[in-house]
Amino acid sequence: MTVPVDERMRREVAGADRLAGALEAALRTDEGLRARLCHARTSVAFRLAGDGRAVTLLLDRDEPAVVLDEPAEVTVQLDGAAAERLAEGRLALPAAVVSGAVRAEGPALRLLEVEPMLRTALRAVAEERGAPVTQETRPAPPPATAAGPLDPSLLAIETRDLRKAFGPTTVLSGLDLQVPAGVVSVVLGPSGTGKSVLLQHVIGLMRPDGGEVLIRGRALSRMSRAEVLDLRSEIGVMFQDGALFSAMDVYDNVAFPLRQHTDLDEDEVRQVVERHLADVGLLGAAHRMPNQLSGGMRKRAGLARALVMDPGIVLCDEPDSGLDPVRTALLGDLLADQHAQYGGTMVVVTHDVALARRIADHVSIVWRGQVLESGLADAVFASETPFVRQFLSGTARGPLGMDA
Ligand SMILES: Nc1ncnc2c1ncn2[C@@H]1O[C@H](COP(=O)(O)OP(=O)(O)O)[C@@H](O)[C@H]1O
Ligand SMILES: [Mg+2]
Repeated sequence: MTVPVDERMRREVAGADRLAGALEAALRTDEGLRARLCHARTSVAFRLAGDGRAVTLLLDRDEPAVVLDEPAEVTVQLDGAAAERLAEGRLALPAAVVSGAVRAEGPALRLLEVEPMLRTALRAVAEERGAPVTQETRPAPPPATAAGPLDPSLLAIETRDLRKAFGPTTVLSGLDLQVPAGVVSVVLGPSGTGKSVLLQHVIGLMRPDGGEVLIRGRALSRMSRAEVLDLRSEIGVMFQDGALFSAMDVYDNVAFPLRQHTDLDEDEVRQVVERHLADVGLLGAAHRMPNQLSGGMRKRAGLARALVMDPGIVLCDEPDSGLDPVRTALLGDLLADQHAQYGGTMVVVTHDVALARRIADHVSIVWRGQVLESGLADAVFASETPFVRQFLSGTARGPLGMDA
């Protein structure tokens, strides 16, 4: 059926106005959100198909704003259905852009890192208005249309042919990792396969024997020591055992990065720390010492500390280790929820396929120091490749022999 041109124009104008209205309402939901969105320091024009009207979101100023038909640094092309989903907070833009289902031009990475927060606010506004919102907590990404390597300009983290051996033991044997910005990426692999060693390289705590680590397109090896230290304050890490300072209570542990790296006064520190402790359900345990916490509480404290600096990248090393399946599921939901609230790129390293299925937008399967397969979660979980099937089903028989 063809829609008469007039009718189509009318709808599209309504679409642009509706999207602009939804974005404006989203920006009004919370002052903290406005401040965090401006970390993007960019402007984005959502250009609607057809008459080419654009809704421009200015995130390059203290007070973000929505204007119509202004040019912008980043341009995102949307058809009517995608614009509608965006307005209702149901379009997972990072996954859509990565898969090629939605086209973006310009430095889109900056937008993608803040987009999950915007999406959450848009969804809240739509729900408040009684829009028919499905119960999905993580909107399904569109099916991957483009196979092959991702657009390097959309990657938060990349490793190229990363190599590392300890004496005679080769741990990383040419590892090519691609982590797209703005999504929850799971690095999935059995224990002993080099996942923690990989993370140490990403934060610059270990130097590779060969290959490169790139953060937002910049090679670590070409950064000065000061630049690497700067970068580390933009990367939050949740270590496997929580890595809390045993002589400090939970509050001081979470406050530590703020006291170390910012000039916030104690009142401001308290506001930030209490917000993050409340997020992870530990406000009531703020003055317990680490040895007075359960394993799950230690992990949640470690997560609060990893997020307290509002990092653009969060790395979580085996957040589920030592937890029973119910607590693992709850922690998975907490990670997804924190990503929806604070945005950024979240990398979760785990051997737990169930956790990966629960939270991953993007998956990289690591085996013996190499990435065997990676892509949007739906595509990887549906993969017919024998080793992926073997790995996901956890069977001993198959191409992944114990002594291959
Ligand atoms: N600092 C180190 N010195 C020597 N060997 C190490 C060091 N760190 C890790 N390894 C070895 O590297 C391999 C991979 O370890 P790791 O990255 O911790 O695995 P995963 O996190 O996937 O369980 C293991 O065999 C481990 O013993
Ligand atoms: Mg490990």
